[in-house]
Amino acid sequence: LRGKYIEAIASAADEAALEEVRLAALGKKGEISLKMRELGQMSPEERQTTGAALNRLRDEIDASLRARKQGLADAALDARLKTEWLDVTLPGRPRRMGTIHPVSQVMAELTAIFADMGFAVAEGPQVESDWFNFDALNIPPEHPARQEHDTFFMARAEGDDRPPHVLRTHTSPVQIRAMQAQGAPIRVIAPGRVYRMDMDQTHTPMFHQVEGLAIDRDISMANLKWVLEEFCRAFFEVPSVELRFRASHFPFTEPSAEVDIRCSWEGGQLKIGEGDGWLEILGSGMVHPKVLAAGGVNPDEWQGFAFGMGIDRIAMLKYGIPDLRAFFESDLRWLRHYGFAA
Ligand code: PHE
Repeated sequence: LRGKYIEAIASAADEAALEEVRLAALGKKGEISLKMRELGQMSPEERQTTGAALNRLRDEIDASLRARKQGLADAALDARLKTEWLDVTLPGRPRRMGTIHPVSQVMAELTAIFADMGFAVAEGPQVESDWFNFDALNIPPEHPARQEHDTFFMARAEGDDRPPHVLRTHTSPVQIRAMQAQGAPIRVIAPGRVYRMDMDQTHTPMFHQVEGLAIDRDISMANLKWVLEEFCRAFFEVPSVELRFRASHFPFTEPSAEVDIRCSWEGGQLKIGEGDGWLEILGSGMVHPKVLAAGGVNPDEWQGFAFGMGIDRIAMLKYGIPDLRAFFESDLRWLRHYGFAA
């Protein structure tokens, strides 16, 4: 009996086979268990010797079962360790990282360029009172410029006696806020979001502008021209740029000029600084005396220039992007195509 089970245990190939051997020997109806039950019918002497022998046999088989079980587990572990190994010298798999949005990137770039020229950053609210957005900028209620701005008006509940508010249509109200807060002299830029009801290939209802404002005792259009040329050379990373100042009209500047940059389209490729094309990039002029006064700055003592530039527009030019709307669609394929996402 002993030899039979010891051998069966040794040759059990896995845990299931081992369990079968255990049941056959020590299970409720196992061979040894049954033999133990027969002890009751034996004479006392016989029972003592046979009982002791059966106990020893049971313990021995039990111990042997445990040992074999452990052996099988060790062997299984060994086999796993041989096949499931990890080469820690392999290079890691690259992870796709988030990236800075092109517009944010351009904002950071232009802020750094203007900072080098001594411009600090000023801010204002996107929900703006129509006094700051219009009146203070010499656009009174009946002025036609109000209609041209395609303004989003904030809804008003009945009995709301707060002054009317709009989504700011340009960053120019920050001129007033900055002058009120800091007085003159002042040199600030104000990058941020602006809103107009407009939507096509080159317009989105939300877009970005950067306002520039420099006020001192003898600032002139010549300073404006130099600052803008310096900015464009640095921003577009070209040795020289040519800007064209076209006489224009804004209620908040006098005189006013729209500024174009020389460029060319060759085979769908935009080149800044050369060619026979012109692209409008900003509006500008000398700050109107009424605007200085609204900002609490004495127009008899101070003068200066202001400009407003479309950030999305110059980002499109710098990266050769034809459709403005794509900027705000968060399409990863588009972002990757232009190198804005991994
Ligand atoms: N605010 C004007 C616009 O949005 C741009 C501008 C700013 C023009 C400052 C002159 C001076 O079109």
